[in-house]
Amino acid sequence: LENGLLRKPPMGWLAWERFRCNIDCSEDPKNCISEQLFMEMADRLAQDGWRDLGYVYLNIDDCWIGGRDAKGNLVPDRKRFPHGIAFLADYAHSLGLKLGIYEDLGNFTCMGYPGTLDKVVQDAQTFAEWKVDMLKLDGCYSTPQERAEGYPKMAAALNATGRPIAFSCSWPAYEGGLPPKVNYTLLADICNLWRNFDDIQDSWRSVLSVLDWFVTHQDVLQPIAGPGHWNDPDMLLIGNFGLSFEQARAQMALWTVLAAPLFMSTDLRTISAQNMDILQNPLMIKINQDPLGIQGRRILKEKSHIEVYLRPLASEASAIVFFSRRMDMPYHYHSSLARLNFSSSVVYEAQDVYTGDIISGLQDKTNFTVIINPSGVVMWYLYPIRKLEIPQQ
Ligand code: DGJ
Repeated sequence: LENGLLRKPPMGWLAWERFRCNIDCSEDPKNCISEQLFMEMADRLAQDGWRDLGYVYLNIDDCWIGGRDAKGNLVPDRKRFPHGIAFLADYAHSLGLKLGIYEDLGNFTCMGYPGTLDKVVQDAQTFAEWKVDMLKLDGCYSTPQERAEGYPKMAAALNATGRPIAFSCSWPAYEGGLPPKVNYTLLADICNLWRNFDDIQDSWRSVLSVLDWFVTHQDVLQPIAGPGHWNDPDMLLIGNFGLSFEQARAQMALWTVLAAPLFMSTDLRTISAQNMDILQNPLMIKINQDPLGIQGRRILKEKSHIEVYLRPLASEASAIVFFSRRMDMPYHYHSSLARLNFSSSVVYEAQDVYTGDIISGLQDKTNFTVIINPSGVVMWYLYPIRKLEIPQQ
């Protein structure tokens, strides 16, 4: 969507995967969906280095709605959001953050709260009045026909408010994610990002199923991503319960080569230093936010269960992820840039994104070995050092 927003994949925090629809604030006051939770995450985003690295979105998901007032305007749950959403938006803005909100095109949200239904224009105006910066529009309890009308209508309604509001569409996820049911050209025109596939859950199995789907369909999905319009493989699980250290590093690296939005969904009040390091790796973030905005692809799948992913970057650099699906022991993978289709007339250097090590003097035929841990990655930032003179024939 060419509204000037999200020229790079959005980064921030989204409540859903970690905090779900926990609305029991008497039993669990620290973790229930409430303005207190969002204010505490806002404080962490601002104070713990996240905002300054680009994690600026603070996004509300399902279960915030209390109902509609006499005029039909949406109102938040009064007990859990006593000061209202405009207050939360002001609070986020005062800290240099942006606020995202959630609605659903159907009769109800997925968790049964009032949906937008026939109030698309009215709700868009409400969000703009509250000074919201992003809308995730879900698709539960809607028909294909309602979605085909509703998503373009909401895009127009948001535009008509005059407030820049990034638009995240769940539409393709409700149509199976593939053409001909999904028209990705249309989506790129009306949405800034879209969920293509199933919800991520807190497990490595779920990460693999999302990854497999994106790779299987990369010929369809890869070309459609770019500045202002991104595929969204869903939230980062890093900091939660389901991934090992290696798997957390792998999700971060793979999402980064896929030019995915980086929405954390974890408790930033208690996250470990190790997980912070993964999420706050400056070179990783630079790669994710590369100005060309080209989505990477899997370029090799070896019988040894090693896979290689490549994302082209600005200044003729590339990100390469060596990914192991093995479950036995660290694997010594032997390769060369020639095997990865790099030019023979250039000398390259690589920086290991996680260790910072420099690998210098890489020419096309130089053999190298990377040691990849089980369900882990080695990630390189590869850049040209000089061109070689090609002798005249
Ligand atoms: C389905 C979406 O895909 C999830 O990300 C989340 O928003 C839930 N609905 C909320 O009910």
